[in-house]
Amino acid sequence: MIVDTHDVVIYCSRLIFGMSFVVFLFFASLVYADTGDGRTSSAAVPLAADTENGEAKSKACIACHGPEGISAQDNYPHLHGQRKTYLLRQMRNFRDGGDRKDPIMTPMLKNMSDQDLVDLAEYYSSFGKVLGSVESAENGNEDPMPSPATATSAASAVPAAAAVSEQGAAVEQSSAAQKAAACAACHGIDGRGTSPQFPNLTGQKAEYIAKQLKAFRDGSRQDPMMAPLAQSLSDGDIAELADYYAAMQ
Ligand code: HEC
Ligand code: HEC
Repeated sequence: MIVDTHDVVIYCSRLIFGMSFVVFLFFASLVYADTGDGRTSSAAVPLAADTENGEAKSKACIACHGPEGISAQDNYPHLHGQRKTYLLRQMRNFRDGGDRKDPIMTPMLKNMSDQDLVDLAEYYSSFGKVLGSVESAENGNEDPMPSPATATSAASAVPAAAAVSEQGAAVEQSSAAQKAAACAACHGIDGRGTSPQFPNLTGQKAEYIAKQLKAFRDGSRQDPMMAPLAQSLSDGDIAELADYYAAMQ
């Protein structure tokens, strides 16, 4: 068979192009591959939580948040009994420089993987729904664990107000309770978040609550739902609401 040199050249260049395409695909797959340590993974699938790892990691948190997340100091929030979806979102925000930053918390979580954060959220939320109270232990926090990726987005659905005003009618209307009526759709008439993204406030430290409301008001902590509400509060309103929720059982 007589082979034209021209055909050989075309054949070879196709072969070389084909091989370099394979090599390109190989390197491209390396670039886009997950690093495997979960640090930058944004898997949309929830990670299975390991409470034992959460407990082990929580040793680093005891100095400020107390054993089992029951804080003894007014400027450190209770984590014990907080909602897991909410906790996961806050920890991701601190770690990844989201809409909440803190000079203590950001370095604390800097080297934690998504898996560690899921495990810590599971551990602290496993205690119940009254912040800092061991007596609420039987009061399970049954929310499903969200995926670390979706836990970064702010809450989008505001609960219907009708059911809440019905609940509200039963509550004695002190000045603080009247102000707290504006919070009940999301934080519950009893200070327990009405959906997994809304944090529990019942029993939280007053000083910490007041600091957060001021942070939402001045924009140093950002949330599309909290910002407009906080902007309508005076320092006096904030102090009253903080004491009201802190004293709630
Ligand atoms: C040196 C003290 C200190 C240590 C240690 C510490 N934290 Fe914190 N943490 C804080 C402070 C202060 C805040 C409040 C920050 C603010 O005002 O926004 C906070 C806030 C938080 C919040 C937000 C709570 C809420 O209700 O929104 C979470 C979640 C949290 N910490 C988790 C942890 C975890 C998990 C660890 C251990 C890996 C840890 N912290 C270790 C001081 C600490
Ligand atoms: C429309 C729903 C909505 C209403 C109404 C609302 N909140 Fe919130 N609140 C949220 C959401 C969502 C967050 C969590 C924001 C985030 O993820 O950073 C939050 C967070 C907070 C926090 C921070 C808790 C923590 O542990 O750091 C405080 C304090 C708070 N709200 C108090 C109030 C008070 C007081 C009112 C009434 C004046 C109120 N909220 C009304 C949705 C609401």
